Amino acid sequence: MAEFVVEFGKDGRPVEADGRLDAAAFHRNHQPIWAVLQKFLEGKSGDVLEAGSGTGQHVVFFARHTPDITWWPSDLNEQHLKSITAWRAHAGLPNVRPPLRIDLSDPAWCKEMSDGSGPSKLLAVLCANVIHIAPWRVAEGLFAGAGRYLRSDGRFFLYGPFKRDGQHTALSNAVFDTSLRESNPEWGVRDIADVEQLASRNGLALREIVNMPANNLILVLGRSGAD
Ligand SMILES: C[S@@+](CC[C@H](N)C(=O)[O-])C[C@H]1O[C@@H](n2cnc3c(N)ncnc32)[C@H](O)[C@@H]1O
Repeated sequence: MAEFVVEFGKDGRPVEADGRLDAAAFHRNHQPIWAVLQKFLEGKSGDVLEAGSGTGQHVVFFARHTPDITWWPSDLNEQHLKSITAWRAHAGLPNVRPPLRIDLSDPAWCKEMSDGSGPSKLLAVLCANVIHIAPWRVAEGLFAGAGRYLRSDGRFFLYGPFKRDGQHTALSNAVFDTSLRESNPEWGVRDIADVEQLASRNGLALREIVNMPANNLILVLGRSGAD
């Protein structure tokens, strides 16, 4: 069953004194997501940005396995930014940067993306469990930024539940979708066809769909026309 999280990162271990949040979803999702990322990242170097990092646990876990890659977590929620900062300090990894404050509904993402203090052109963008728990304009801003900042050989990994051709892929996703829309009419499980249209408007194209546990998917996107 997909996750619906209002107060994200408060359903795992109690909040640590330094602000580290623990999300139950992290413990379920990080290994399957890593299995997909690893295939692409292995042997490569560069900057990878996670959009909507939440607690920061994913970035720290992935960074431990990829010393040649610099990880840039981001979020807009204050408690999440604090938690990411605390997880980064706790891990003490040299390849995790302080979190960027990115509101994904802004297509420019943040000033650091263009003033030289942020990442270089991105080897990868990762976004997990965000676009169905946010208005569609967040997906629009996410794709605008990915289209602008992704390297020509880069990949954009989008994890979550999705509809295919207007149909839910499982009853649990349909129930989840209803609960999302009841909470906020602007939220909801997105259709792959709408995501593909958005991708194409931003110079991106769907390369692969990877089945994940609990009726989730990873959509792997790259630049249109690139390798
Ligand atoms: C369900 S949590 C997922 C967190 C993390 N990606 C994970 O999978 O563990 C959704 C995250 O999206 C973030 N988010 C929601 N709207 C956003 C926006 N407009 N800009 C950036 N982040 C946003 C929330 O603050 C939260 O951290």
